[in-house]
Amino acid sequence: MTKKVIKKEVKKSTPVNDDIDNSSLDRLHKNLDGSLLQKDIGAFQQANDSTANISLDTPEDEIGEHTIDSEKDITDLSKEGLNKIVHKCKFKQEYVDNNIILSVNHLKQYFLFGAGKSKYKLKAVHDVSFQIKQGECFGLVGESGCGKSTTGRSIIRLYKITSGSIYYKGTRISGGYRWNEKEIKFTKIRFNKKKKELSKKLIDNKISKEDFEKELKDAETYRDNVIKIQHAKIKQIKYDNKHVNAKLMREIQMIFQDPVDSLDPRMTVESIISEGLQIQGLHNKAKNHEKVCEALTKVGLIPEYAGRYPHEFSGGQRQRIGIARALVMNPKFLICDEPISALDVSIRAQIINLLNDLKDEMKLSMLFIAHDLSVVKYFCDRIAVMYFGEIVELASSDELFKHPLHPYTKSLLSAIPKPNPRTEKHRIRIQYNPQLAHDYSKEKPKFVEILPGHFILANSVEVIKYQEEIKKLDLANNKK
Ligand SMILES: Nc1ncnc2c1ncn2[C@@H]1O[C@H](COP(=O)(O)OP(=O)(O)O)[C@@H](O)[C@H]1O
Ligand SMILES: [Mg+2]
Repeated sequence: MTKKVIKKEVKKSTPVNDDIDNSSLDRLHKNLDGSLLQKDIGAFQQANDSTANISLDTPEDEIGEHTIDSEKDITDLSKEGLNKIVHKCKFKQEYVDNNIILSVNHLKQYFLFGAGKSKYKLKAVHDVSFQIKQGECFGLVGESGCGKSTTGRSIIRLYKITSGSIYYKGTRISGGYRWNEKEIKFTKIRFNKKKKELSKKLIDNKISKEDFEKELKDAETYRDNVIKIQHAKIKQIKYDNKHVNAKLMREIQMIFQDPVDSLDPRMTVESIISEGLQIQGLHNKAKNHEKVCEALTKVGLIPEYAGRYPHEFSGGQRQRIGIARALVMNPKFLICDEPISALDVSIRAQIINLLNDLKDEMKLSMLFIAHDLSVVKYFCDRIAVMYFGEIVELASSDELFKHPLHPYTKSLLSAIPKPNPRTEKHRIRIQYNPQLAHDYSKEKPKFVEILPGHFILANSVEVIKYQEEIKKLDLANNKK
């Protein structure tokens, strides 16, 4: 890379490192810019040992694949040592121990459009982290276009994720390495900056020749080690993505948003439902037919419908076919992508009740995606509110309705019609405008735990404001 290009990149990218985990970069900056340049990554790991302990309950502390210091398994920096890790998919025992069935860490999904100068990227999902426990129903709520479906599709591996990682039952099923590539790029840029500074010091006689050489050598070793580790990590991520356990992936099934478009009009109900079984390698027609009939009965349809085509059914029945298609695979984890929003109000309750029964019967864990809070209120144990590719608030259902804090959550709540006509008359619709609602010019927001299990995206000024709001809400509730 020529000097000119590097200069341009520093100018362009260092002020807003939007693609990089800022905290880890800050730490790296401190280590590179300060005089305390460690000789090797081992020392760096020790120095940062406190941050290496990943707390499972606090998403803001979840470091995921982002920092080199969280990586305990790479200690041997020799060529053999770095190659050794590539033959087994990454597994995190702590997820299994903590009963976490699915863990999404710093998920980013960008879509690239165009080419050359008119090339741009759409950040559909930007840094989303959450964990779902065994048997839990987790709701993901937000307006259309905020990236809910993209999150669901990334989990079932319909997309190659841009950055972050997804763990199912402790095994990494999907990983992105954009961050690692950036880390290599920025490490090189920072090294060049450091080298320049050192040369300037040498010219100005502020540093002796020996010190210059020693510091430069240290910086070089550090840079090489970071690059080596990141290359090894990229290799491991590529390996994991390629060697996903198909049997494990079959346990995750998704019910798609649109019951009309998600069913092929030229296939019979039987072939639609049994398609997954055939992909699995089960070609015994009689056995497959039996399974299809069983799935149809489970969702409240009669087995005779198997020979019909999707257009012969109503919207609610088509959604049931979609559910049967997922159930025939005997899932353990079900992603329901707005399963009722395309349906008439009268049959919504039927589908919700059906899903509720299936959840108990099959002991399913669920990710339930919806665009309004009223649907998820009674159905989900915990709810995450998503806005523009980010989670802005996360709490248990009761807690979120008791203490709605984020202006966007309040806006979603104000959109729920009230059953009582008298109170409905006085319902005020709150509009959410992020530019007016937040002032992040001085301090950027972080995902903070404001009450136990209640997380919110806020900066320190807002945290104080929200804490006061909680007190006021509690007072009002006590008076009632
Ligand atoms: N395959 C794709 N290619 C390009 N852009 C996409 C793709 N899928 C989704 N998007 C864009 O990503 C954003 C989020 O979409 P989506 O996840 O479907 O939103 P939601 O389900 O919350 O309504 C939208 O702006 C959408 O246009
Ligand atoms: Mg959607």
